[in-house]
Amino acid sequence: MDASTLTRQAETFRTELITWYDANQRDLPWRDEPSLYKTVVSEFMLQQTQVKTVLPYFEKWILAYPSFSALAEASENQVLKSWEGLGYYSRARNLHKLAQAIASLEKIPRNAKSWLAFPGIGPYSAAAICSIAFAEREAVVDGNVVRILARLVADKNQFKSTVDAAKAYREVAQTLINRDRPGDHNQAMMELGATVCLKHSPQCLLCPVSKLCEGQSKGIESELPRFQKRKTEKQTISRAWVVGDQGILVHRIPNSANRMKGLHEIPTCQQLNINVGGGVPLLERKRSITKYRITERFHKFEPSIIDLPKLGPNFLWVQPQEIEDLPFSGPHRKWIAELLEMEG
Ligand code: ADE
Repeated sequence: MDASTLTRQAETFRTELITWYDANQRDLPWRDEPSLYKTVVSEFMLQQTQVKTVLPYFEKWILAYPSFSALAEASENQVLKSWEGLGYYSRARNLHKLAQAIASLEKIPRNAKSWLAFPGIGPYSAAAICSIAFAEREAVVDGNVVRILARLVADKNQFKSTVDAAKAYREVAQTLINRDRPGDHNQAMMELGATVCLKHSPQCLLCPVSKLCEGQSKGIESELPRFQKRKTEKQTISRAWVVGDQGILVHRIPNSANRMKGLHEIPTCQQLNINVGGGVPLLERKRSITKYRITERFHKFEPSIIDLPKLGPNFLWVQPQEIEDLPFSGPHRKWIAELLEMEG
């Protein structure tokens, strides 16, 4: 089916989809007594993170910060600490700023275009929030939606990125939207993408719109959508594990950094002006971030080589029992525990 045929079949698509959603939607805490605040928090958490990871964070968050004003009044450190482990910390900072902006407004805007001006809000979250909370007829287009639509029309085009594909599908998605229940329609698309129209093994037997799906009738659904392969890059980071009576040397990422501001980490040797040469690391760990395949090496150094005043205010000694109370970027806390264990 091509896009113009799909447009003609739009009515069948939306009816089948919403009927399926009414019968099969997951019981999720932001769908229970929904509010603008719960919608906003869930959408921030769900950017780049799966529902099952978000669930315990969402429940704790709503208890700790039950409203925009409660969140607005919290300290940034507290907010980062509550977010710890969810990753992509700019989301937490933006959500905090958004709460402060909203708490100071007399009238909250009710359309996606105005929401784009708030911190951390892009076209996807603006459409999700305004359709769910204000019934605005604005289609969401993310990776899930692109996958459903590209399979539906058996689109063999190769896209550069999800953003690129989302642009190509904006109009079709908008044509399909359910004018009576736009928020539920958008959530149904997300739900279908997350539970049925899966990337690797789509469950077409369970799909409410499989009879409209050209990809499925051609038997090519699993190959779609097609994306250019991203090249990966290898990187090695050498870090300095310095521990003594004063505590563990940690680095606080300054506010001038692009990412992870305010989080703590084990300092790199480069930050401390230490040359590791051919030294053997105490510990080696691998991780992937976007296109980078990173090898993290931890080298042990004696505290006597550290001149703290010279390093400046972003380096500090922290006692092991204080680590718990500071925000750390995801794996650093785990690495510190491993390193402490190795020290015995
Ligand atoms: N992903 C993003 N927003 C979502 C929502 N409201 N429900 C389920 N998954 C989502």
